[in-house]
Parts: sequence; structure tokens; C-alpha cells
Amino acid sequence: MELVLLPVLLVVLLLVLLYKYGTRNYGTLEKLGIPVVKPYPFVGSVRYPARTSTDQEDMRNAKRFGKVWGVYEGPWPQVFVADAELAKRILIKDFDHFPDRPILFDIPYGRDMLDMKPGEQWKMLRSMLAPALASGVKLKAMMPTMVECAQQAFHRMEAKMRQTSVLSMREDLFGPLTLDIMAQFSFGIKVPNVADTSSTFVKYASAFSAQGDTPDTWMTTLMTSFPSIANYMMGRELVPAFKYFLNLVRSSIKQRRAEGVERPDLIGALMDAIDKKVPTPECRRLNITEELVMLQGAEMLMAAYDTIGTTLTITSYFLAKNPDVAARIAEEAAGVELTYEALQRLPLTEAAIQESLRLSPLISRHFRLCTRDWEYDGLRIPKGTTVILPLWPYHRDPEVFPEPERFLPDRWLGEQGRQLGQYSWMPFGLGPRACIGSRLGMMECKFLLAYLLQRYRLTATPETKLKYYTGATLFIGAHPIMCKVEKLQ
Ligand code: HEM
Repeated sequence: MELVLLPVLLVVLLLVLLYKYGTRNYGTLEKLGIPVVKPYPFVGSVRYPARTSTDQEDMRNAKRFGKVWGVYEGPWPQVFVADAELAKRILIKDFDHFPDRPILFDIPYGRDMLDMKPGEQWKMLRSMLAPALASGVKLKAMMPTMVECAQQAFHRMEAKMRQTSVLSMREDLFGPLTLDIMAQFSFGIKVPNVADTSSTFVKYASAFSAQGDTPDTWMTTLMTSFPSIANYMMGRELVPAFKYFLNLVRSSIKQRRAEGVERPDLIGALMDAIDKKVPTPECRRLNITEELVMLQGAEMLMAAYDTIGTTLTITSYFLAKNPDVAARIAEEAAGVELTYEALQRLPLTEAAIQESLRLSPLISRHFRLCTRDWEYDGLRIPKGTTVILPLWPYHRDPEVFPEPERFLPDRWLGEQGRQLGQYSWMPFGLGPRACIGSRLGMMECKFLLAYLLQRYRLTATPETKLKYYTGATLFIGAHPIMCKVEKLQ
């Protein structure tokens, strides 16, 4: 009898231990008085319905819970905050409590990217990259590259237009075009076949992009409980891409040194940092090596290519659906030589991009790691907790943006427009950890949109639809956006 009972007892004990393990952190958020999306053992607060995009999920939870709610991602507690005053505190005023992002995936090279670096290392790396991205002089120096890439991309697009006037705005125009520009900016190279999806460069760059539904099954949700499996799967795809781009930066630097070439671009900034900063005791203390600096070329491509290409693609959608706005932008840009200075004087073009980023903030959540216990206005967040700011509820707050579902770029114009949504509109983030490339991103978007509408008319067809991919937690892409494109006479 006892011999029969023993295995049964062992199995029961194992199941109890497994259950304890699979629910080990549950209850921590509830103890802080934070309402929580019900978690299940191991899988955490499973999304419902299973295939959803973050916009729907975040809007539903904001409606249900209000400003603050919690979820368990697998076993890990996460606090969602959807309130402008709290956002200002977390991202800006109390930045010293939230200086880092949590490690979303832990793979070789991934941890070395600027956006994943913590504390002092982040500060040092960011100061090395900022000169190439923030100075007007350096951005202006990018203009000839953008003009040349645009000419070639529109030439390719016209060849396609000989077969059909209904184009996929991303595949037929903005994807290869923004990749071409970023290849020159990040690696100082011209990719010969940037529109060819089978080319090695394009294949590796696409590994960084978020096109496609993430299978949002119980199996993938379960993987968050076992990060090593998730990291293995992610690493298989991304590590070869990081290695490839690291080698590109390395050979670009080698070539410039051999030829004595100096250029005011990102490679130039990386070379400067390697020569002047890496040998200093400060960098040695922080373990900032030549390789770490060079890797940031891959980071820039990863952070910029998909964001800019998708922003332009989705803006095309809104303009095709709002031909009156598109016509006014065409009028604003008509006859303007698109120099760096002229781009500062295209308010409606800029407003259309701002409005598109309001309605479709593609990086749909900002992540921060709380590194010191924090409390404000009754909300307590313990050290070690991940805090997430979901942009969709901020960007659709009717108190700040009346008629929030409508595409109304005019709301951004004039003095009132300049004050609009100070801590609510944050497609580039806010505070010291906000997007380092926002000026370059906006400049490129303005230039390419004005360039397009100076020459072509966009029209919606029954195929012109905006449908987001499901399953992603950070960057949501959209299914191909088709628009009719006609050359202006
Ligand atoms: C329309 C284009 C772009 C959008 C919408 C965008 C959006 C964002 C967002 C939302 C963040 C996170 C901010 C936060 O957590 O507070 C971010 C971070 C970042 N972005 Fe961008 N971005 C764009 C273009 C670029 C470009 C052109 C570059 C570089 C060439 C770039 C490089 C980065 C980097 C390196 C970070 C991490 C910054 C840090 O942790 O210090 N982005 N971006």
C-alpha cells in the first residue's frame, strides 16, 4: 500500500512545487493596492482575446482600470501607468528612480545596445552618439544623401507604376528608401540592391523589423515564464544580424582610416569616440570598448529603419484617406527647394506627421525599470518593478485631443498647437531617455513626405486599409498599406 502511495505523493508534491514556482510573484501588485489583470499559473495575465494588438489591449485596460493597473508577464509584475502627471514624474522629474529600461530580451549583443544599457554606461555611450544625431550642422550634412536616395527610390517606384498604380507604400517605396538612407548614415556604405529582399544586407536588416503577426498562442505566452527559451529563439535570428552589422562598421572605419577620410556622420562620431574617449580611464572603468562603440551602428539601423519607414507608410494611409489635407500639404511644398532650412518652414507637413504619430505611435509602450523605491500621490512602486506607459490611451485622451479618433493635423498648428499634449503626446518618449534620433526622424519624414506630395497624388482605393499586426508588445507594425499613386502633371 505504502509503495503505491509514495509515487502518488511525490507527484502531488511536484505539482504543488511547480504551482508555487509558476505563481511565485503573484499577489505582489495586489498588496500595493494596484488592480490587476487576473493571472494564471506560469502564463501570467494572458491577453484576451488571444490574437490582439497592443492598442486594443491597452485601450481596454485603461477603460476598465483607469490610470494605473498591473499585469503579470509570465511571473513578472508590470505596472501600467496611463496618466500625464505620473508620466511627467516617471520620465522626467523622478528620472533618477527610473533611469533604465528592463532587459526585454537577453541575447549576445542585445544587452550592448544603447537602449538596453543601464546607468553610467548608458550616459557615456549616449554622449558619444549625440553629436551625430542632435546637431543641426550634422543633420544638414545628411541632406545630399537623402536627396540622392529619394531620387533613386522614386525612379524605382515609377518603374513599378508602369505595371500598376496601386502600390504598397512600404514595400514599393518607403522600406527600401529609408533603409538606403540609414545604411549610409549608420555604416557609411551604399547598398547596391536595397530593394532586393534576397540581398544579405536587406535580409539582416529585416531581422530588426517588426513586420508580421507574432503568433500569440499560449505556447509563446508560456515562454515568458522561461526566458532562456525565448532568448534562444530570439538570439538565433538576431545574433547573426548583429555580427554582420558590426563587421560592416569595422570595415567602414578601417577603410576611412586607410584613405584618411573624415565625414560628419555617425561613423565619424564613432571614430571620434574610439580615438578620444575609449582610451580614457573613465571608459576603462565603465568597460566601454571599441567593439561596444562600433555596435552602436547596428543600434542606429535597428532603431531608425523600421520606425521611419512605418511612420511614413502610415502617414500615407491617413493622407490618402484625407485628400483635402494631402492637397494642402502639396500646396505648402509646391515650388519649395527642400533644403534643411526650408524643412523648418513646412508646418502642415510637420503637423500631419505629428498627427499620424499620435494616432499610430508605433513604439506603442515606453518601458522603464524602477531602480529605487518610489511613491507619488498614493502610488507605490518597489525597486525592481517594470513600469510601462501605454501610448494609445495617452494619445486618445479626449480631454487633450478632442475628437481623438479623427485625423486632424490642424490641431498642431499655431501657438495652441505648440502647447498641445505636452506630457500626453510622446511618440519619441520624454525626458533624458527619449529617442536620440527624433530630430533626424522628423527631418527625414518631413523631407520624404514633402518630396512625394510635390510630385505625386495619393488616393485611397478599396484596398487602402490600416490593420495592425497582432501579438507584439513593443513595436507594432501594420499590414501592407496600398494606395493609388499618380504623377502630377
Ligand atoms: C519616426 C521615427 C522614430 C520614432 C517614432 C522613434 C521612437 C522612439 C521611441 C518611442 C523611443 C523610446 C523612448 C522612451 O523610452 O522614452 C526611442 C528610443 C531610441 N531611438 Fe528612436 N524613433 C525614431 C527614429 C529614430 C532614429 C532616426 C534613430 C537613430 C538614428 C533612433 C534611435 C533611438 C535610440 C538609440 C533610442 C534609445 C535611446 C536611449 O535609450 O537613450 N530613433 N525611439
